[in-house]
Amino acid sequence: MSTVMIVGATRGIGLELAKQYAAEGNTVIACARDSGAAEQLDALSSSSDNISIEQLDVSDPASIEAAAANIGTGAIDTVIVVAGAVGGGRQSLDDLDIEEWHSSLNTNTIGPALVARAFKPNLLASGKGNFMILSSQLGASTWPMGGMYIYSSTKAAVGKVGKILSLDWAQDPIIVSVMHPGWVQTDMGGPQAEITAEESASGIRNVVAGLTKEDSGNFYKWNGDIHPW
Ligand SMILES: NC(=O)c1ccc[n+]([C@@H]2O[C@H](COP(=O)([O-])OP(=O)(O)OC[C@H]3O[C@@H](n4cnc5c(N)ncnc54)[C@H](OP(=O)(O)O)[C@@H]3O)[C@@H](O)[C@H]2O)c1
Repeated sequence: MSTVMIVGATRGIGLELAKQYAAEGNTVIACARDSGAAEQLDALSSSSDNISIEQLDVSDPASIEAAAANIGTGAIDTVIVVAGAVGGGRQSLDDLDIEEWHSSLNTNTIGPALVARAFKPNLLASGKGNFMILSSQLGASTWPMGGMYIYSSTKAAVGKVGKILSLDWAQDPIIVSVMHPGWVQTDMGGPQAEITAEESASGIRNVVAGLTKEDSGNFYKWNGDIHPW
């Protein structure tokens, strides 16, 4: 059994990952940006001894550092940064919310990089760490969809963050990967999406379990296929 940290565990795919990892007997550090308003996660953690809740807002560097100080330097085998923002409804060039673009850059791109920096000692302590960032197919240069300037560009950029980390950490016992979780029935994906959060989380866990150091830097789909960049 391992220790798994889920960053953004209050709803959707993150909540489901926390649930599945805990049910398997793993120790789960479930991070919530507002730990006082995480009803579903509170309910899950009260029904499982394996889950502890930590306050962490990925868009706030001080919050990331505070969480790292609170958690300490013990081994964490897997860190999955799930937290993401869609970036609001004004994402065309003609109707663009520039403030939201800045804010989404903090959440979707800069936050995961700062989480990587803050928790690298824990991943090193594991001896075989996994650091995964949830991106999106909309962040791939190959995905043929216009519009969505905010979401697509900030997810494209975090894909590059993952790639750079895999190069910078090439000599470290840490595997870095980027994941498209599917089009998922969550608050973000909507009810018409193709797969459930259960299916997505289960697929993501399978991918994580099968990764080797040679896989570091890859961009995956939840079903284990490689996603073109
Ligand atoms: N659903 C899809 O179809 C789909 C497709 C492609 C990629 N993705 C990506 O997959 C990830 C999870 O998506 P989802 O569908 O589960 O989304 P969701 O249902 O909207 O949940 C988003 C999660 O991110 C958390 N979060 C947002 N901003 C945060 C911050 N600043 N600090 C910490 N946590 C924060 C939310 O916490 P609060 O409860 O506090 O808001 C919530 O737990 C995202 O990165 C998303 O971009 C999703």
